[in-house]
Amino acid sequence: MKQRKPLVAGNWKMNGDTVFNDHLLGELRAGIERESMAALGIVVCPPYPYLAQVANRLAGSPIEWGAQNVCERPNGAFTGEVSASMLVDLGCRWVIVGHSERRQSMHETDDDVCAKLAIAAAHGLGVIACIGETLDERESGRTESVLGRQVDALARAAHDAQRGGDCAAPMPAERFVLAYEPVWAIGTGRSASAEIAQQAHAFIRSRLGALDGGGQATRILYGGSVKPGNARSLFAMPDVDGGLIGGAALIAEDFLAICGAAAACSSASTAR
Ligand code: 13P
Repeated sequence: MKQRKPLVAGNWKMNGDTVFNDHLLGELRAGIERESMAALGIVVCPPYPYLAQVANRLAGSPIEWGAQNVCERPNGAFTGEVSASMLVDLGCRWVIVGHSERRQSMHETDDDVCAKLAIAAAHGLGVIACIGETLDERESGRTESVLGRQVDALARAAHDAQRGGDCAAPMPAERFVLAYEPVWAIGTGRSASAEIAQQAHAFIRSRLGALDGGGQATRILYGGSVKPGNARSLFAMPDVDGGLIGGAALIAEDFLAICGAAAACSSASTAR
């Protein structure tokens, strides 16, 4: 039985505008309230300029919201950056770090991603930390070495935050979330099969033993071409604790169906 509350997070990436967002958020709010998905955590992560709009539009809703990135420095002369304290000031609860698009196009390293995790945790933000191998790495048999390197670095940083680290309060186990996003599955329509996802998630969990709860408390989301048609089989896997959703998070009907699939898997596992 899964002991972890599933989480579905929408990463809007660099999409949306005020009119589009208003419509999407209205539909999501209504859908979540209609379906009553209390057994599920739901987060949406819009681009920075729309965080305040999303905060207003979701006030009083069970849907939480987060940012897609955070600066690893506290404040000061870093033109174009956004600090963890600014996110907290707006009421932000979550931040995504280490997305492969940033690792690739902004050349973010494991050290950069861990520094972002540390400062986010120090400010009480929940962290969704992304990992995943490229197609080339998978095809050349390096999936476990790549995932192992990424997870070990993040687990060390999360362990420090859980011990208190620079934090005002230690990071609770449920505020550190990993997202396994095989790069070859992102935006390609080619999701990992449920079996491949489970195999990767079990491997990732096996590296988390030093964390609070021995890694059993850490939610590991799957991301990469999750759609209403494949969500249920992915979320039914024992080590898949929800999803990080890109394209389908921009379509209210699809995102709600994916949330429904996660809620169904959660109540199915609780009923067993
Ligand atoms: P897609 O769901 O569009 O494949 O994107 C996944 C992703 O990158 C979420 O962070």
